[in-house]
Amino acid sequence: MNDTLDITITKAENSRLTVTDFSQLPFGKVFSDHMFIAEYDNGQWSNLRVLPYGPIPMSPAISALHYGQAIFEGMKAYRQADGKISVFRPEKNFERFNKSADRMSMPAVPKEIFMQGIAALIDIDEKWVPAQDGYSLYIRPVMFATDPYLGVKPSDKYIFALLTTPTGPYYSKALKVKIEMEYTRADDGGVGYAKTAGNYARSLYPFAEAQKEGFDQLIWTDAAAHEYIEEAGTANLIFVINGKLVTPSVRSTVLDGVTRDTIIQLAKKAGIEVEERRVSVKEVIEGIENGTLTDAFAAGTAATVTPIGEIGYLGKTYTLTDPATRTVSAGIAKTLNDIRYGLVPDEFGWNWVL
Ligand SMILES: Cc1ncc(COP(=O)(O)O)c(C=O)c1O
Repeated sequence: MNDTLDITITKAENSRLTVTDFSQLPFGKVFSDHMFIAEYDNGQWSNLRVLPYGPIPMSPAISALHYGQAIFEGMKAYRQADGKISVFRPEKNFERFNKSADRMSMPAVPKEIFMQGIAALIDIDEKWVPAQDGYSLYIRPVMFATDPYLGVKPSDKYIFALLTTPTGPYYSKALKVKIEMEYTRADDGGVGYAKTAGNYARSLYPFAEAQKEGFDQLIWTDAAAHEYIEEAGTANLIFVINGKLVTPSVRSTVLDGVTRDTIIQLAKKAGIEVEERRVSVKEVIEGIENGTLTDAFAAGTAATVTPIGEIGYLGKTYTLTDPATRTVSAGIAKTLNDIRYGLVPDEFGWNWVL
């Protein structure tokens, strides 16, 4: 890594660790004691600091609120078997963060700020990394535009922040998902591949409608004809069809998931044939009906590997194979977990051990 940066540290007077119940961790609701902040102005990043987690004063005119220049990332730090802490593939998140920044006309965050910010924050909040199996410290990098005046143009000022939140398993059961045939998440030439706030905002209404019908998640389809499967709300989708691992290829409408990429590499290493291509809705429904589709799961940092149990399509519910019988996703999920928690050698060099 480059030279050590000057990061000012202000410690919280009282830690909230003792009043935090680590057996009750709803996702994203409990934050660790500190956060990291860097400010961008006049073409320069400065004022790098770790400070107590809490509100930051801000003008209600900031352009992130009005024009949506806001991007984020998500990765996890794990407590390894030997007690050390490792962050899983942070460089992939760093690269994707700056890809999102570029698309949203925001400045790139230098790699040393991204990485040393994470290291400084985890160093001070080291005790917030849970040790229980299935638990981790979720790291949320975020950047937003802070010009305090109105006008549709790229902001001149930004804040880059890192927040951390201890977390347990995200979904506790197989998912019931709906293939969305009316609303869309992303379109060609749009911003679907960027992890930007508006992509999530536009998904909330269709998601709420699906929830009313009893679904846990949506499967997004292409905006042009609702013919092809793209991804889920907060995860990529992977199927096993005729014994092959099949996943929608990454395109301008699909987020290039780190978990997806990791699983593809693990599957190939295990000798499983992998197909990254367009996957039609028809093929998935037919595969369920004729028994050639034997496994389906959502793959993401928050969701990890979550089996899909039922799929709703045009008012009909299709039940997939019993998740307990699925050897492919269970095997991959175990290997992935074992690598993250340092239980097996990290042959791919994915863990950044702090
Ligand atoms: C829309 C969307 N797709 C896919 C993913 C999975 O990506 P990753 O595995 O990098 O977490 C996420 C989560 O970050 C997401 O929000």
